[in-house]
Amino acid sequence: MTAPPFDLTLWTASHLKRVERALERWIPLTAPAGLAASMRYAVLDGGKRLRPLLVMGAREAVMGSQAESPTEQAMRDDAALRAACAVELIHAYSLVHDDMPCMDNDVLRRGKPTVHVQFGEAQALLAGDTLQALAFEILTPLNQDPAEPAMAPALQARLCQLLARASGHAGMAGGQAIDLASVGLSLTEDQLRHMHRLKTGALLHGSVMMGSACGPATATAQAALERYGEAIGLAFQVVDDVLDVTADSATLGKTAGKDAAHEKPTYVSLMGLERSQQYARDLLAQALAALDDSRLTHTHALRALAHMVVDRSH
Ligand code: IPE
Ligand code: IPE
Ligand code: MG
Ligand code: MG
Ligand code: MG
Repeated sequence: MTAPPFDLTLWTASHLKRVERALERWIPLTAPAGLAASMRYAVLDGGKRLRPLLVMGAREAVMGSQAESPTEQAMRDDAALRAACAVELIHAYSLVHDDMPCMDNDVLRRGKPTVHVQFGEAQALLAGDTLQALAFEILTPLNQDPAEPAMAPALQARLCQLLARASGHAGMAGGQAIDLASVGLSLTEDQLRHMHRLKTGALLHGSVMMGSACGPATATAQAALERYGEAIGLAFQVVDDVLDVTADSATLGKTAGKDAAHEKPTYVSLMGLERSQQYARDLLAQALAALDDSRLTHTHALRALAHMVVDRSH
């Protein structure tokens, strides 16, 4: 009997139900001077949630590889849920700041006015700051609630380390600095790849590694997931550059055509549309080959997510 084909829509719906519920619960309803409203506006009710899905997909892949006790499984599933929410908070914060007048100066995000348009620049800055802090708070529970599985301190520290690395100077924020410093310049392919790996790839790669850190993963599996995360991380921003040219604002939920308008060096400006699309497909093939090498059996979700990264329309 052949196995039924993997249904990404069904898989996504069941995982996102837990993620959305947890985000709803963890983002405060009240914070000083109306700050909770801008935090909730930035995160809830929007976005593809790709990074949480990658955490869940990687956790699922490594989970299928070795037996776990029910207690271990509950603790690691809870850790993965926390990691999924934490990385989405960092991503949402990066979007709020990316859209501000001092950066990309965008007015539309996830089909709504951007946070600074809706709430003002100071609130947008602070919403980003607080979302970033909240991400690390979620990763370090006090383990005082007997109804919730206690998260091992070593796993808390590892997840914080992966997320901090992916979002800081060697990751997202560093890449954003290069992005802003590159306006009007024509970068070499190596320079552009480096910028994209940092500003976008690092957080996607970090999502995969956080899911796999929830374990249990062999060294072979970890190494293969590293390569998978790197390939889809870069592919994601190549496709973002392509969509900026090929899609319209209504489909994207953000302003189309703004990279050329802002003189941003992109894959499309460097190698043209067709070669960029081909490059994204090459990276997809690399990601799938890495999964083949992983010796993991439960990689259906990661495979489908890699296809989604490259074939998406928004
Ligand atoms: C947009 O990310 C910003 C980039 C890193 C290119 P997404 O396309 O994942 O945005 P949402 O979360 O779906 O809104
Ligand atoms: C942003 O890249 C990457 C982030 C770290 C937020 P872009 O500036 O291309 O993202 P969009 O196109 O505004 O979503
Ligand atoms: Mg930007
Ligand atoms: Mg932008
Ligand atoms: Mg873009």
